[in-house]
Amino acid sequence: MRKTRIALVGAGVIGKRHLLASLSLDEVELVGIADSTPAAKTTADDNKVPLFESTEKLLQSIDVDGVIVATPTEHHLAPTLQSLEAGAHVLVEKPVMATLEECEQTIERTQTTGCHVLVGHQRRYYDRVNQARDIVQGGGLGKLVSVSGQWTVRKPLDYYREQWRRKWQAGPILTNLIHELDLLRYIVGDVASISAETSHDVLQFEKEDTAAIAMRFCSGALGTFLLSDQSHTPWTWEQGFGENAAFPPSGQNSIRFMGTEGSLEFPNLVVWKSTSGDSCWTSEIHPTALEMTQEDAYINQLDHFCRVINGEVMPRVSAQDATDTLRATLAVYESATAGRRVNL
Ligand SMILES: NC(=O)c1ccc[n+]([C@@H]2O[C@H](COP(=O)([O-])OP(=O)(O)OC[C@H]3O[C@@H](n4cnc5c(N)ncnc54)[C@H](O)[C@@H]3O)[C@@H](O)[C@H]2O)c1
Repeated sequence: MRKTRIALVGAGVIGKRHLLASLSLDEVELVGIADSTPAAKTTADDNKVPLFESTEKLLQSIDVDGVIVATPTEHHLAPTLQSLEAGAHVLVEKPVMATLEECEQTIERTQTTGCHVLVGHQRRYYDRVNQARDIVQGGGLGKLVSVSGQWTVRKPLDYYREQWRRKWQAGPILTNLIHELDLLRYIVGDVASISAETSHDVLQFEKEDTAAIAMRFCSGALGTFLLSDQSHTPWTWEQGFGENAAFPPSGQNSIRFMGTEGSLEFPNLVVWKSTSGDSCWTSEIHPTALEMTQEDAYINQLDHFCRVINGEVMPRVSAQDATDTLRATLAVYESATAGRRVNL
């Protein structure tokens, strides 16, 4: 069987995560890396993969079916457009692009080339996320009324040694909240409007320390979300289920989905329902912990990318879908800055 020929543009932190995933899949051949740093040369040599100094050189030199773009966000556009124009499908890291204008250019280019863009919102490949989606969208909680979530940690001062990390583009809204909003959009559906307040009181950098968000989903459900990178708590997705070895697991749930017939704690999937069949405040309510698997979302995502390339499925996160997540995320800034609700 012919392997799917994948190239990697940008062999930094997340690029190496994609490289590892490619080594785990028999159907994938990693045929080249584009990155001009000495560290990338070591990575390429260690893995016996040809290294190119730019995306242009890579695309001129080798045949590829798909390109993974894992460059810093402000450098997503050029390698994505070059790859699409060369007839390759693209898996680009999140946020899909740095601006909504760049998103539009990308979507337009997928239409003219007929090649797909898949965006790296990797959480959508966890079984527990899809179980939660099935429960919420399948009516397992009755009518969904509300959602309450939080992502509250304390990043160490060291993290901000680099000046660019103190700018708004590197703050927790664009870096971390975007994952949470993509997850909520995937499980609940589109967001209709957002209101937000932000504060900078702890570090007093340009980027926010904390954001409090209220939102209305198109389904009519209401949601609140609390975000902070200066609060020491056990309540984040990463600590909740131990996705990332760098963050010690707490086992705590950080999002609650609430419906007329029951509620769901997430990410550790605990469903609360009445056993009497009478769902109201006078009936006893009991928790049931659902069975979960612990898979590698990057491997699942790359496997899905190969199926997109081979024409078997459409992208689970298209450029349009990820643009809607970016638009909702940017609306948090807009609302906090303008002091008003933003309709999406
Ligand atoms: N999905 C996630 O959970 C997740 C996690 C971390 C980062 N990211 C995203 O991944 C992207 C990269 O982040 P990172 O932390 O890996 O950054 P990084 O700085 O560690 O790595 C980026 C790499 O790209 C290379 N590069 C820069 N411009 C290039 C170009 N034009 N052509 C080829 N190579 C180029 C750099 O030399 C570097 O090796 C960002 O968009 C970030 O938002 C996503």
